[in-house]
Amino acid sequence: VQEAEAAARGARDLDALREALAAYPHCALKKGARSLVFCDGVPGSRVMIVGEAPGREEDLQAKPFVGRAGQLLDRMLAPIGLARTENVYITNVLPWRPPQNRDPKPDEIAMLLPFLKRHIELAAPEILVIVGNISCQALLGRRGITRLRGQWTEAEARPALPIFHPAYLLRNPAAKREAWADMLALQARLRRPS
Ligand code: URA
Repeated sequence: VQEAEAAARGARDLDALREALAAYPHCALKKGARSLVFCDGVPGSRVMIVGEAPGREEDLQAKPFVGRAGQLLDRMLAPIGLARTENVYITNVLPWRPPQNRDPKPDEIAMLLPFLKRHIELAAPEILVIVGNISCQALLGRRGITRLRGQWTEAEARPALPIFHPAYLLRNPAAKREAWADMLALQARLRRPS
């Protein structure tokens, strides 16, 4: 973790951070993954979305949230005027796909957390959207998305909104009602003069 902290801190911009991750030798996930999945969207956006980890499609395309869950995420963002081609920046807690999409282990999250924190610092969003339990664990230090979702909190010194993971919504479509309420809360916040 100390090495990760030093490597992350040494990165002066997003390209350097991507390179530091690519050169970081201590995460076993990297060996099993095809791609480093670093980001998508527009750096400098007011909103940064933090997901969990790449899945199969993401690993193939080297971009976060491009599979079915990602397409649902795009459909959730569009009605509130957000699109990764314009005004959203997207990353994950983990830049490498875990084998068979298993949940990331706590030590994997802890090892890579300095990179995520530096990523947020360098992307400098006004607002963080924290997607699903793993991201809540990483950035808020607690799980329990059912209670946390829709409640504004703070992470990395900025307002943060936990939301259900779109993969969860694909399995539990009834929860889309809450997910939509959370999108409206995000929209209201973005409209508020800051
Ligand atoms: N799920 C995530 O959390 N992130 C992705 O990039 C894709 C699916």
